[in-house]
Amino acid sequence: MKSILVTGSNGQLGRCIKDVAKDSKELNFIFTDKAELDITNRESVNAFFESNTVVYCVNCAAYTAVDKAESNEDYALAVNVLGVENLAKACKKHKAILIHISTDFVFDGKQTQPYTEVDEPNPLNVYGITKLQGEKVVEEVLEHYFIIRTSWLYLEYGNNFLKTMLRLAKDKNEVRVVSDQIGTPTYARDLALVLISIIKNNKIPFGIYHYSNEGVASWYDFATAIFDLSDIKVKIRTVKAKDFVTSANRPMYSVMDKTKIKNIVGINIPSWEESLKECIKRLAFNE
Ligand SMILES: NC(=O)c1ccc[n+]([C@@H]2O[C@H](COP(=O)([O-])OP(=O)(O)OC[C@H]3O[C@@H](n4cnc5c(N)ncnc54)[C@H](OP(=O)(O)O)[C@@H]3O)[C@@H](O)[C@H]2O)c1
Repeated sequence: MKSILVTGSNGQLGRCIKDVAKDSKELNFIFTDKAELDITNRESVNAFFESNTVVYCVNCAAYTAVDKAESNEDYALAVNVLGVENLAKACKKHKAILIHISTDFVFDGKQTQPYTEVDEPNPLNVYGITKLQGEKVVEEVLEHYFIIRTSWLYLEYGNNFLKTMLRLAKDKNEVRVVSDQIGTPTYARDLALVLISIIKNNKIPFGIYHYSNEGVASWYDFATAIFDLSDIKVKIRTVKAKDFVTSANRPMYSVMDKTKIKNIVGINIPSWEESLKECIKRLAFNE
């Protein structure tokens, strides 16, 4: 049976694909995470492709700990570059299409207008460097691939900015939030739906695409909307990025231009506020 392999499927995006895939019974998904398929293990990847007929591989597996990556470069490289190379080579051998997920952190944030797919990447941190190297590997090995860059992913479960804000608001009277880094939050469920529509369409030209929700926000805007929509009263203290010390540097501006994916895939993208509202509704329903 022809299958769609999803790697890293216990992560944020993988879990969302699992959720939305329930409505696409005609597609046969195989969900794996590190325990079932460690993408850094070339023999395991090859054996998996030998024993399953993979037509699409959606790579959600990644080392995503942006700050820890600064001191754990070898492992970030192993997962985000060598692991991707293992998948790309297996996809090439078995004529499968790779849908690889990448990040706005490939950019340096020096632009003042949204980044398009042809703008020059220049990552500022180890995570971004390894993700860009992963993209290059995909482009070198394969002709049949999609690289989907996304930003500021969140959803109702897992560890992400939304969940962190809700946790901090329970424990503290005041939260500190960076106000001068600008980007766009992306509800992982929206991205999962787009990935499934790319697979179902089957005629989308290969290449790099940018996808986030619509609109522009600072982390402060994002936090404010989270508390407003959740009816939580907590004091937010704004901090400049330069005063919020982290191991990794982050781009000050990483808004992405979505014209290409909107025109080619023919989708309407919800605003980040609309999608956040939907996510918080689902969160309340699940609790
Ligand atoms: N999160 C964001 O804000 C964001 C923004 C832009 C782009 N992205 C990109 O979007 C994609 C999905 O991100 P996400 O937020 O869903 O990440 P995530 O929640 O960290 O999930 C990544 C998953 O990959 C697994 N994994 C790690 N090493 C692996 C290996 N060697 N073999 C197989 N699986 C492995 C992880 O397992 P363990 O947890 O057990 O290690 C985890 O389940 C990634 O490519 C990421 O770079 C994310």
